[in-house]
Amino acid sequence: MVECRSVTKTYHSGRGTLQALRGISLAIAPGTAAAIAGKSGSGKTTLLNCMGGLDWPDSGQVFVNGIDLHTLPQRGLSLFLRRDMGFVFQFGNLLSYLTVFENIAFPLKLNNIPKLELERRTQELLERIGLAGAGPALAHELSGGEVQRVAVARALAHRPKLLLADEPTASLDSATGTSLVRLMFELGRESGCTMVLSTHDSEVMDLADQRLHIRDGMLQEHPGQ
Ligand SMILES: Nc1ncnc2c1ncn2[C@@H]1O[C@H](COP(=O)(O)OP(=O)(O)OP(=O)(O)O)[C@@H](O)[C@H]1O
Ligand SMILES: [Mg+2]
Repeated sequence: MVECRSVTKTYHSGRGTLQALRGISLAIAPGTAAAIAGKSGSGKTTLLNCMGGLDWPDSGQVFVNGIDLHTLPQRGLSLFLRRDMGFVFQFGNLLSYLTVFENIAFPLKLNNIPKLELERRTQELLERIGLAGAGPALAHELSGGEVQRVAVARALAHRPKLLLADEPTASLDSATGTSLVRLMFELGRESGCTMVLSTHDSEVMDLADQRLHIRDGMLQEHPGQ
């Protein structure tokens, strides 16, 4: 489960001071999927990064499975990121010099999963994402939709507790995007993973168990207003 309590984040840059998050409180139940919508610049990426321990709030707390992320020592945070977190980005971010198989197996390797188990899990994931024969291919040989399916498999391979996906469908057409998110939710639910994604697509929003709307760094109770 993920819980944010009064999370704030302000950026100071050449453009001045910008309050990206202005007191966000939310809770997402274990094993469920939440979707966050909001205009460009509303704070979606900042919120996801704070939830995943990639960025630090100025104040407030983020709990993942009861652990206050930002109190973890550096080593504890590294371990948490490696074991318990999965990330999917807008453009897949596959390692271009590795094969599809090696990309999916990467988090398993980092977590010292034994070779036979690593091969079994990776092959099973390749089948589940409809790319059973594509293991030896390189990322640039895949279509955009295929890249994102591999990115989803890689993010879930080590069975993380929390999966964060920042606009995973932004580079895809709407139908490909919704089928990607269906697949992601299906795979994640099977392993009890809590999932949070950001999106601009209302069909993707409809697939989530919980829908959140953010505007100017605040959650909207009544998003239509
Ligand atoms: N590193 C940074 N330095 C300064 N300002 C930043 C930084 N990162 C984000 N911001 C600002 O914080 C606000 C929230 O940005 P964020 O990236 O979270 O929005 P977003 O909802 O993800 O937008 P998009 O839909 O375009 O991805 C924006 O106004 C942005 O310009
Ligand atoms: Mg963003």
